[in-house]
Amino acid sequence: MLTFHLNDRTVTYGGKRSKRLIDVLRDDFGLTGAKLGCGIGRCGACMVLVDGKPTLSCRTPVSAVEGRAVATAEGLAAEGLNAVQEALLEAGAVQCGYCTPGVAVLLTSVLEQNPEADRRTITKALEPHLCRCTGYAQMIEAAENVARGEAGRPEGGELGSSPLRHQGDLMAAGRLRYTADLKAPDMLFGAIRWADHPHALVRDIDTSAAEQIPGVVAVLTHRDVPGDNHYGKAVKDQPVLCGDRVRFVGDKIALVAAQTEEAARQAADRIRVEYEVLPLVGDPEAALADGSPRLFDGGNLAAERWIRRGDVDRAFAEAAFIHEATFRTPFVEHAPLEPEAALATFDEEGRLTVIAPSQNVFFDRHEISRILGLDKHRVRVIQAPTGGAFGKREDMVVQPLAALAAWKLQRPVKIVLTREESFRSTTKRHPMVIRRRLAADASGRLTALDVDLLADTGAYTSWAPNILRKACVHATGPYFISHVRLHGRSVYTNNAFSGAFRGFGATQVLFAAERHMDMAARAWGFDPVELRHWNLLQDGGRTATQELPAGLKVTVGECLDRALEAVGAAEAAGKNGVRGGSMVRRGTGCAAIFYGIGYGGGIPDISGARISLTPAGRFLLQVGAVDYGQGSSTIFRQIAAHALGTEFELVDIHTADSETTPDSGSTVASRQTTVTGRAVQEAAERLRQKLDQAAWDLGLRYDPQDPESLKLLHARLAGEGRPVEAFARHNLATDKLDQGTGQGVAYATYAWGAQAAEVEVNLRTGKVRVLRLAAVHDVGRVLHRQALRGQVFGAVAQGLGMALMEEYRVEGGQPKTLNFDTYRLPRVSDMPEMTIEFLESAEPLGPYGARGIGEPALVGTAPAIVNAVCDALGFELTDLPVKIHRKDAKNAKEINRDYVHALRHHRQFGRRVGRR
Ligand code: FES
Ligand code: FES
Repeated sequence: MLTFHLNDRTVTYGGKRSKRLIDVLRDDFGLTGAKLGCGIGRCGACMVLVDGKPTLSCRTPVSAVEGRAVATAEGLAAEGLNAVQEALLEAGAVQCGYCTPGVAVLLTSVLEQNPEADRRTITKALEPHLCRCTGYAQMIEAAENVARGEAGRPEGGELGSSPLRHQGDLMAAGRLRYTADLKAPDMLFGAIRWADHPHALVRDIDTSAAEQIPGVVAVLTHRDVPGDNHYGKAVKDQPVLCGDRVRFVGDKIALVAAQTEEAARQAADRIRVEYEVLPLVGDPEAALADGSPRLFDGGNLAAERWIRRGDVDRAFAEAAFIHEATFRTPFVEHAPLEPEAALATFDEEGRLTVIAPSQNVFFDRHEISRILGLDKHRVRVIQAPTGGAFGKREDMVVQPLAALAAWKLQRPVKIVLTREESFRSTTKRHPMVIRRRLAADASGRLTALDVDLLADTGAYTSWAPNILRKACVHATGPYFISHVRLHGRSVYTNNAFSGAFRGFGATQVLFAAERHMDMAARAWGFDPVELRHWNLLQDGGRTATQELPAGLKVTVGECLDRALEAVGAAEAAGKNGVRGGSMVRRGTGCAAIFYGIGYGGGIPDISGARISLTPAGRFLLQVGAVDYGQGSSTIFRQIAAHALGTEFELVDIHTADSETTPDSGSTVASRQTTVTGRAVQEAAERLRQKLDQAAWDLGLRYDPQDPESLKLLHARLAGEGRPVEAFARHNLATDKLDQGTGQGVAYATYAWGAQAAEVEVNLRTGKVRVLRLAAVHDVGRVLHRQALRGQVFGAVAQGLGMALMEEYRVEGGQPKTLNFDTYRLPRVSDMPEMTIEFLESAEPLGPYGARGIGEPALVGTAPAIVNAVCDALGFELTDLPVKIHRKDAKNAKEINRDYVHALRHHRQFGRRVGRR
């Protein structure tokens, strides 16, 4: 028995003294504000105060706090949010909210000890924390506001203002319950037995020893799946539980359901699996070779795409310049701070109900009902508060297993993955090898592009065909090129499992395209920025597949100029590389951005929205859209309030419940603001018209901003049997692309932007520091400025990680980077000083002229940074993440001189194919 003070009360604990403090707080005292992000002391999500000192509760045995005072985020908010929590909320530093309680705890301690802490002190203090959403900038801003005594909640919620994030107060207080925080009466815990080999036949599964472990209730295998044992996005090829074969080490063999998580995990280890190990398919090129082991009956080619226009061979034959290069990008891990989890339980009507982080509850319901062989109306899926997603939660991971166990056992079952399990089993960004040949005429007009793209989709298909389509469509970059031949293939291997990830294939190809523009320009003796400007798409121009829609303004050139100006590129021109001294070199680089919004390619891109007037004189908006931190729920409330002419505060929202909200599609493809936002606008406008008409008919006057007047209106309308709700559905129509040529309306609209970076490269250490980054994006119209800025900060952090440090390494089919010690994510000290600007050119298809920013803000960051690095070094890099070896750094000193000379005199330099 030990006693300690917990949030100002004295508590006793009688369990194991070695138990981690985080587990005691969560399991024994119900304080779930401390979150488990990594379990190894590398993310800060579990931060609490012990005697006022920031302490990682995942690294602290409970015995260490005996007789001491422990404070959690909930305790800090005992009398309402404390100043730091309030400031984080006000500054927009809360997105998914998973890291927020830990950050609030840390900053509270920092500012208590040093109430006038400056930016440097705050930044240094934040270093132990990882945030995958915010890019840290607004956290620093929040702490500075507290130090300066500047506070104040924003007023109103009109379009363009920044009302507080929906549920942000609960997040800041550590009181929002994510899936791992939930409990249900009589609940069991699930643990998974993972595949031991990346490629093997399963000969036998013996569960007898596991069943003997005390507390084990059931061990389920593929034989227990009542419906279809396979599920997936584009193709149903992923087994719920493998019965005959495993294709990567994230495959699942069995599920244990037990009274405790400990018993379940112990039993999962005791399951004996007999395998016949098969040869590994570890390389996408080799996977396509004759004689390679076949991972599926149809072979190893998961998807193939062509886009063809013009006469590419003739254009190359007639070109004045040709440049070719090959670019490589690695597996990248999404790393949302919340690991995968699901709770399957039963709702008030006895319906199987799965509560989980998700990006599309309707798709999950469809798949779970197929797996269980149930009518879809017997399954309900509810999105739990979600600690980041970025595409990862498009594919289900543990939801089918929790559902299966709960259905079989007729008891609630919860499964929560560790960080290692999450890394091992979930989707990654597709690694790509992108071979490009680019041709131009003597004046620098691009005439032809020939691209061959090979992607590693790993063990299963997921979204491979669609990702490949997006990659091919975006392979040109935002340039008009008359003759194109774009060929993409996505291949099965035993390496990992690739799927949707912010940018959806465009991220990799835009890195290659924008890197290639710099390389080609230098080789051909042109200025890289001028080469871009000569070739950028114009209003009504043609992408590789389609004419740009009428009314869509192309502002990429303006974005580019503004981004370059913001990083001072003009002053740096001609001085790059040599700046900064002999061992520290500086460089600038840029990237022009275009991005197709929505699913595209003829897939119905439909969102529904319903809005009603409630008896309480408020409005209730219902959408199926998932908000996992990007702020869509807040923005939809703003749109609805504007259309209704009411106050933001009078609009409530209910989201992402397959039983009670309309289907609003996936939260992907930067589509929610544009598509669901438009449905919300239309539904709200319809309701306003209905209310106005009814009031006119009944001779009533009402004020949409006055709840009392709305209450009276509701009472009268309900009494008369008049409708008090409206529904709208919006579709972003596109074409199914031509099978042979790939021509057609690939995307209904496009976003434009540009980013520019200034970097410093230390030739002695090879270390790259991004000093400044400017991001200029045309968002159509600013609806919520703070959320937009937050999206850009966060996207840039992810792009910076991709450029400089992130790589999910797999060797022999075994992952080598399974937690935040070996997989490096950007921390606060990695982030540059940033300038963010928005252009508002009025998107013809979006609500009140707005369009999404989630992905466009990411796709330009890596090329801008790597272009700047190459500018500093004087030689060309083509692979991500950038690795500067000692030898390269030495060479840079010599090469740099020639390089600068070449730039000044427009001489050919670099990896040149030749001037014809
Ligand atoms: S969970 Fe403790 S530091 Fe990550
Ligand atoms: S807000 Fe920090 S991880 Fe999502």
